[in-house]
Amino acid sequence: MRADRPDAIAQMMDRILSYCRSQALGAVARLGVPDQLVEGARPAAELAAATGADPEALRRMLRALAVEGVFEEQADGAFALTELSEGLTTDHPRSLRWFAASMCDHAHWTPWGKAHDVVVEGRSQTEKVLGASPWEYLAGNPEEAGRFGEAMSSMSRQAIAGITAHYDFSGFEHLVDVGGNRGTLLLDVLEHTDKPRGTIFDLPPVIEVARGALAGHALATRIDLVAGDFFESVPAGADGYILKHILHDWPDDDCLRILRAIRKAIRDDGRLLVFDALLVPGAPPWAYWLDVHMLVLQDGKERSPEEFKALFAETGFELTQAIPIPAPVAIIEARPV
Ligand SMILES: C[S@@+](CC[C@H](N)C(=O)[O-])C[C@H]1O[C@@H](n2cnc3c(N)ncnc32)[C@H](O)[C@@H]1O
Repeated sequence: MRADRPDAIAQMMDRILSYCRSQALGAVARLGVPDQLVEGARPAAELAAATGADPEALRRMLRALAVEGVFEEQADGAFALTELSEGLTTDHPRSLRWFAASMCDHAHWTPWGKAHDVVVEGRSQTEKVLGASPWEYLAGNPEEAGRFGEAMSSMSRQAIAGITAHYDFSGFEHLVDVGGNRGTLLLDVLEHTDKPRGTIFDLPPVIEVARGALAGHALATRIDLVAGDFFESVPAGADGYILKHILHDWPDDDCLRILRAIRKAIRDDGRLLVFDALLVPGAPPWAYWLDVHMLVLQDGKERSPEEFKALFAETGFELTQAIPIPAPVAIIEARPV
């Protein structure tokens, strides 16, 4: 019996209450509190008035976050940004504002209340708690879907510099972003190369939002928007297919269906590009948490290079590269065989 060291007990207490921290971060991010501090420190009452929060509840939440360095509580009681909360401002180049908000929204949060049942039964309980799959739920909840879309775009922005620095897209003629949402990665790739055309492929309600977002965009003439279901088919005849944060959403059987649809569509000289976390020795803790998050949400998983290789082998692809990069995703490339 060694668990009686006070520091170990305190650390355990902290870990047990970590979910309070996540929700507090999500709440202040969604309210836009960090944006209100860009010009300098402000008292909680002013922040509450500016964001539509209750002054005392906001003060206590900010105080708890300040204790661990997310904000700074000054001697006069005002709160200031720190390096951590700067990352929650909307205009930060690698902003996590909408990621924090979305991860605490109903579709991502409520399934975690059933973690016990998930580990006992070995499967996600989302359909029971949401009454629908996450995608059906989001289709009926456009405001939450909007925050999720922003979150995915910001995750793409986190990854883009790493991806474009380590992968040469200039040889492609036509890239299809499968489950591309707003196509943030695809748009960036097209911005940096003259040649390829792009297609964003996603579910019908998502494509409608992407259409609005793309209206008037300088690249709109190089991009097609196609609605459909990637379990059935994907737009055919392209030489590049992107799957970013798609395969990790699904169990192996569903990944095989998606990969078979792409195998039917891809040109013989094409390349499949998967951008997901890679479970390799030394992967950061968040990659393992994302793995469990995917299990809890919809029986998805993060994978090792060997697991990707096996999925590709069953669907007529061959793994050609699996490169960890300084980004929240790795580059996993396959070619049709
Ligand atoms: C985790 S998001 C990733 C979005 C985008 N690739 C990115 O990284 O920003 C998963 C995407 O898959 C889309 N999706 C889910 N089921 C789909 C289906 N059956 N057919 C096409 N797209 C689907 C969702 O609408 C969502 O945009």
